[in-house]
Amino acid sequence: MATSNKRTCLQYLLHLAQDNLDFRLPEIKALLSLRGKPFHPSLNFKEKSPFWCLDGLSEEDVRGIMARSVCAKSAFELWGHGQTHSELKTSLLSYPAENMSPFMHKDSTYRINVYTFNKTLEFSDRIKRIDAMEYLTFEGAVSLKSPQHVFCLLEDYGTDPNNIPEHPNYIYFGRWIADGQRELIRSHSVKNRHFIGNTSMDAGLSFIMANHARVKENDLVFDPFVGTGSLLVACSQFGAYVCGTDIDYNTIHGKGRSSRKNHKWRGPDENIRANLRQYGTEKMYLDVMVSDASKPVWREAALFDAVITDPPYGIRESTRRTGSHKDNTKPPDGIYGESHVPVSQAYHLSDIFTDLLNFAAHHLVMGGRLVYWLPVYRPEYSEETVPLHPCLRLISNCEQTLSSHTSRRLITMEKIKEPEELDSLAHLADPRFSPYQGHNAFREKYFSGLNKRCVKDNDNKSDVNGE
Ligand SMILES: C[S@@+](CC[C@H](N)C(=O)[O-])C[C@H]1O[C@@H](n2cnc3c(N)ncnc32)[C@H](O)[C@@H]1O
Repeated sequence: MATSNKRTCLQYLLHLAQDNLDFRLPEIKALLSLRGKPFHPSLNFKEKSPFWCLDGLSEEDVRGIMARSVCAKSAFELWGHGQTHSELKTSLLSYPAENMSPFMHKDSTYRINVYTFNKTLEFSDRIKRIDAMEYLTFEGAVSLKSPQHVFCLLEDYGTDPNNIPEHPNYIYFGRWIADGQRELIRSHSVKNRHFIGNTSMDAGLSFIMANHARVKENDLVFDPFVGTGSLLVACSQFGAYVCGTDIDYNTIHGKGRSSRKNHKWRGPDENIRANLRQYGTEKMYLDVMVSDASKPVWREAALFDAVITDPPYGIRESTRRTGSHKDNTKPPDGIYGESHVPVSQAYHLSDIFTDLLNFAAHHLVMGGRLVYWLPVYRPEYSEETVPLHPCLRLISNCEQTLSSHTSRRLITMEKIKEPEELDSLAHLADPRFSPYQGHNAFREKYFSGLNKRCVKDNDNKSDVNGE
């Protein structure tokens, strides 16, 4: 709707979901930076709080963020706030009338919602809260079903469910602007996906990865360990063209044993293209091919706007690459038929990450992002464990705990310079560029006696390499 351009000093309130806490700030920062906006928090910003107040944004910016965010539930134009209802009243009465009047005139319709975090209010108490706000001079008519404007009173009772205060710690009032994209988590759940595997990535995390990677319309996105293509599904939803590779012929061609309960073999159309078709984004599908991520198969060029991937950790799938320990002499070209599968050898995790960072440095466009999962053995983890590269700047590093001793970290890096000849060998010359070596034995540690109980738990709950 057209609003007066006299409206000034607007602040916006984000209401965030209380899961995946670590991933929220990098997501919102990435989405803001897509719009060329910095992150300007106000009002005693606390990262773990469900409410964040942001300055320096327009309503269009906020709508843009909410059109992408899976971490934010809703956004409001903040009209007032305080530690008590009386402070809220003072704050609301001093809010500029010209900011409010376009939404309160007599020809408009409205409703007021009451939302409480960490406390449930009786219906009668909600009504009392609304009645107590009569000092706000809404001149329009109430419409519960289809109001033009929705307002919300939000009460924050803290984050401790075992210690809920009688009165809220903080109260906000604002005009609802937009909801985030939490619905995507349900609509894209792998439970209802056409083609899945043992390590298909959870829908919510896939969208978070696409947001951390700042994937946008018409981007070209690549997943070198594509599996069943969950990350391509998420990126295509945000308008990117997608492609990928996997060493496993059956995965790429949708053949072999099914991962579905009660299905022995995969059906005729169980493949990544069909997954995109399921969500109406088939036109963004470029292709996938059988290829070993440790081998350079791409021409030397900055091809991709984002590289986004979930490498194998060797827990549910093997970490293999083509090649043999034996010193085989190369057969003459064409001696093998099309179906020849080269022998393979172990692909150590530290090599996987060195190759991945080198690949990103060579094949990302400048400013393009690499987003990937790094498995870590928590007792030995420190920030210095994260692999670095002279051409990539670390943007964020978020933990998802898997058990008391293991977690995986979502690493986001941005390309800042074109590689020079020696940059690909930086990990050999400088230990800062290959610090993950110590975690080489992640698989052994994961399955070690210390973790046996956790592995059992995880078999029932979540997979270290997917859901
Ligand atoms: C964790 S899974 C990826 C799951 C994927 N994100 C999904 O949603 O289905 C890792 C994948 O890497 C593949 N892989 C293992 N070694 C590889 C290699 N050397 N080159 C390419 N792909 C490889 C495996 O076949 C597996 O499909």
